[in-house]
Amino acid sequence: MRHFLRMRDLTSGEMRRLFARAAELKRRRREGHLEDSLAGKTVVLVMEKASTRTRLSFAAAAFQLGGHAIELSASTSQLARGEALSDTARVISGYADAVVMRTTADARLEEFVRWSSVPVINGLTDGGHPVQVLTDLFTVEEAIGAVSGKRIAFVGDGSGNMSRSFLEAAPLFDFTLQLGSPPAFRPPPAEAQAAGRHLTVSGDPRAAVAGADVVVTDVWTSMGQEAEAAARLKAFQGFTVDGGLMAAARPGAIVLHCLPAHRGEEISEEVLEGPQSRVFEEAENRMHVQKALLEHVILGGAAETTEA
Ligand code: CP
Ligand code: NVA
Repeated sequence: MRHFLRMRDLTSGEMRRLFARAAELKRRRREGHLEDSLAGKTVVLVMEKASTRTRLSFAAAAFQLGGHAIELSASTSQLARGEALSDTARVISGYADAVVMRTTADARLEEFVRWSSVPVINGLTDGGHPVQVLTDLFTVEEAIGAVSGKRIAFVGDGSGNMSRSFLEAAPLFDFTLQLGSPPAFRPPPAEAQAAGRHLTVSGDPRAAVAGADVVVTDVWTSMGQEAEAAARLKAFQGFTVDGGLMAAARPGAIVLHCLPAHRGEEISEEVLEGPQSRVFEEAENRMHVQKALLEHVILGGAAETTEA
């Protein structure tokens, strides 16, 4: 079964085919073609945290490929009343062709996967956001060409799900992740070690951004960390991606943010809305990339690019 729970669940060949298929599907939508590769297929979205982009982009992706998506939010389902994940996963497996799950601990996603007999896609956990990083790398390639050999600066919370998925992606896509974060907000040592020469770490955001082709940031307080918000706001002072910081990057560097953004905290209004920002293309690309991903997990190689 083809789950997508972390970046390394796709081989580099599969990533390449997926990006080609996503580009093809994006172009075909612009040209007005209708698709039916997922006709009759059902995608269930299990959402245990808030979401705007993930639920909408997966639902639109399934629909535009001729399939259907059903959302199950924790608060309005029996999950909130304590129904076992093992029971929920087996029940959903009887209805769905694939599941997208957004949850808290990675162990909870793993538990769901253990009982699921259909492919599961990680729609964000405390430990990673692989569908977002897959999309971010697609967006980089669209804007400035092959990601291999590029320098991607991640500024802010180095211990969060976004930076950890970027870290996992660095050796797989052969880019250098230049992490700029306060010492208390670094990735788990084993994950940093696994990235080897593909990671540099600095407590100085300017040093982290130096010479970068891409500058990425994310919220300082992720979902589930609300009680730490005041302490985090203090800890991350000086790590705002603003015009002054961008001056240290390569001229022409692009800026990514998975959204939602907190203007004036991790990113300034001028950068988010400025000419280097690819943030709204990035958000749109979630749908194109996830179409290719849904085809991959549900159909295998059957719907991969046939056009030159
Ligand atoms: N970037 C992202 O995953 O957004 P949502 O939380 O709105 O799904
Ligand atoms: N790190 C953020 C990402 C939101 C898409 C969070 O987990 O809240």
